[in-house]
Amino acid sequence: MPSSSDTSPRASSRTSKLAKTYKLECRSLWKIFGEDAEAAAQKIDPNNTDHDRIINDVHDHGGIVGASDVNFTVAPGELFVIMGLSGSGKSTVLRSIAQLHRPSIGQVFLDGEDLTAMSEAELMEIRRRKIGMVFQNFGLVPHFTALQNIAFPLKMRGEAAASRHQKAEEMLKLVGLEGRGDAYPHELSGGQQQRVGIARSLAVDPEVWLLDEPFSALDPLIRRQLQDELLELQSRLKKSIVFITHDFAEAVKLADTIAIMRDGKIIQKGTAAELLLHPVDDYVRAFVEDVPRLQVLTLADIMTPATRKPSKALKMAASTPLETAMLALTGGEDTIAVMADDRLLGKVSRQDIINAVEMVS
Ligand SMILES: Nc1ncnc2c1ncn2[C@@H]1O[C@H](COP(=O)(O)OP(=O)(O)O)[C@@H](O)[C@H]1O
Ligand SMILES: [Mg+2]
Repeated sequence: MPSSSDTSPRASSRTSKLAKTYKLECRSLWKIFGEDAEAAAQKIDPNNTDHDRIINDVHDHGGIVGASDVNFTVAPGELFVIMGLSGSGKSTVLRSIAQLHRPSIGQVFLDGEDLTAMSEAELMEIRRRKIGMVFQNFGLVPHFTALQNIAFPLKMRGEAAASRHQKAEEMLKLVGLEGRGDAYPHELSGGQQQRVGIARSLAVDPEVWLLDEPFSALDPLIRRQLQDELLELQSRLKKSIVFITHDFAEAVKLADTIAIMRDGKIIQKGTAAELLLHPVDDYVRAFVEDVPRLQVLTLADIMTPATRKPSKALKMAASTPLETAMLALTGGEDTIAVMADDRLLGKVSRQDIINAVEMVS
């Protein structure tokens, strides 16, 4: 349910042709919190690009900016990661996508349909059929067994007992908890509880999967294991995913695209390599600082396009990590011919690798 501080959306059109090519699109999304959120939101001129000024105006009117002019798209099968420090607006964006917060300004398109223009009843249907959510604190019903928790959304959807039981068993198996269906949440470890949360969110076979720091409460080993399982699941299920984390290593491992948020805004969006090689400011730089560049960056990320094979060059695939390439360069060659199968894409020198790792470019 939207909170009392919610403001009505100023939607302009209900469908978007452009947005249909994406699974999900957030367009110029703002969320203002506070007693007088509506009045504060009314002060915003969406065409005013001086966002600092807008934010100050909102503050002056007693509002809190949760999300400010957030724009991004998620393609079918894409895993989109949102990162940022605590309080930067990540959860606000995620909840605004599902319309658990009604955006103050802007639109959210799912399959080209504007969710901000829908009634609560329509949204309830969309959430039941198309959206799966997982939260950091698992959010299981304590007096339901694992199986009952997983079957719950199916029950809400009016499915018959036998069919929802069977589906819940399948989901339990999918997340590796076969045989634990009768356990209550307190009888399960954190990692197991989150598996139940994941199974529950997948039970209705959602098209969009929203995960808000799902692994943050787990210890590192379990966390890595669940990351691997998420990737494995995604390779089969191909959902459109928005995944929130504050751990860049996790983002690098999972993301197709990463957006970095600060003070409600997305300040940079790109692949892990783009953020590593071209951070827009010190905030982004601080996030990417500790990443092992030699392992994360590949030849494709740093090559110079070339049409003729450099002489005395070592042929290597574009997807080769820099670490592997560097080790291969000890044979006397100075240059790598970067290949896609038999086709020459570009070249990389030993110095290019050193520059990329030391960021002296
Ligand atoms: N329901 C709310 N009412 C008032 N302020 C909120 C509410 N939810 C979030 N905020 C504020 O919005 C900002 C972004 O919060 P949030 O999206 O939860 O950040 P994150 O998930 O990145 O930690 C913070 O300043 C937070 O205090
Ligand atoms: Mg949060």
